[in-house]
Amino acid sequence: MESWVDGQPADVLSLKDRGLAYGDGLFETIAVRNGEPVLLERHLQRFDLGCRRLSLNVDMVELRAELDTYARRLGEGILKLIVTRGDGLRGYAAVPSSRARRILQGSPAAVYPAVHAERGVSLFPCATRLSEQPLLAGLKHLNRLEQVLARAEWSDPEHAEGLMLDTSGRVIEGVFSNLFLVRESVLVTADLSRCGVAGVMRAELLSQAESQGVATQINDISLEQLRQADEVFVCNSIYGVWPVLACGSARWSAGPLTRKLQTLARALLDA
Ligand SMILES: Cc1ncc(COP(=O)(O)O)c(C=O)c1O
Repeated sequence: MESWVDGQPADVLSLKDRGLAYGDGLFETIAVRNGEPVLLERHLQRFDLGCRRLSLNVDMVELRAELDTYARRLGEGILKLIVTRGDGLRGYAAVPSSRARRILQGSPAAVYPAVHAERGVSLFPCATRLSEQPLLAGLKHLNRLEQVLARAEWSDPEHAEGLMLDTSGRVIEGVFSNLFLVRESVLVTADLSRCGVAGVMRAELLSQAESQGVATQINDISLEQLRQADEVFVCNSIYGVWPVLACGSARWSAGPLTRKLQTLARALLDA
């Protein structure tokens, strides 16, 4: 489907855009099913938090209406929303009058091998570390060079995802996913107050698990705790849940809580 810039069909962008110059903006990648953006409220919540942290002035009512219209026309697939601070001059200082620019792009649904979800995946242990920056932690901002470096570390299809630690060696997330472990029936995911992207699917699974009486914890996770987990899985808002079977020398099997949460994610995402 054609892209929109500020609500109008367009396939070109100003060379002065600060998203290009400095990564000055945010994005969301949203699954669209039956013409509806999936988990839209959670996407908008993260996006709105990002706008407030970066002082990006976006009319959320206008944006929501635009996303709804675009998703209806797309029908099935993936809607990518990018919002930048708009045009700038030379230098980091923003032009006070600059208007945020909205870019909407539609693409067909992502196709991953079915075995990723059915059997599980191996994670590549990435050497690239996530640096700590609490001001940006949790946001889906446009600076993703750490993920670009990490994803370049492997090209074999044996590894469907990579594991990323922070510079202090804590387990944080996948390259394009969040990570959960299960230990003694408690569902644990990493504290993302220093780095990492606070995923929409992570938030949804935490909330669904809690409402079903599963004990949950948001904590720092060491490599040793990961190794000793009963179950490990990765998740995002496009593919749902993949059980993790291996990372380096560590091995796990797809367990019951992983399967239960995978079924919940699938109900949201499968057309
Ligand atoms: C670095 C990173 N972490 C986590 C996620 C998962 O986020 P979400 O559940 O919102 O798709 C993504 C998604 O692309 C990501 O790029």
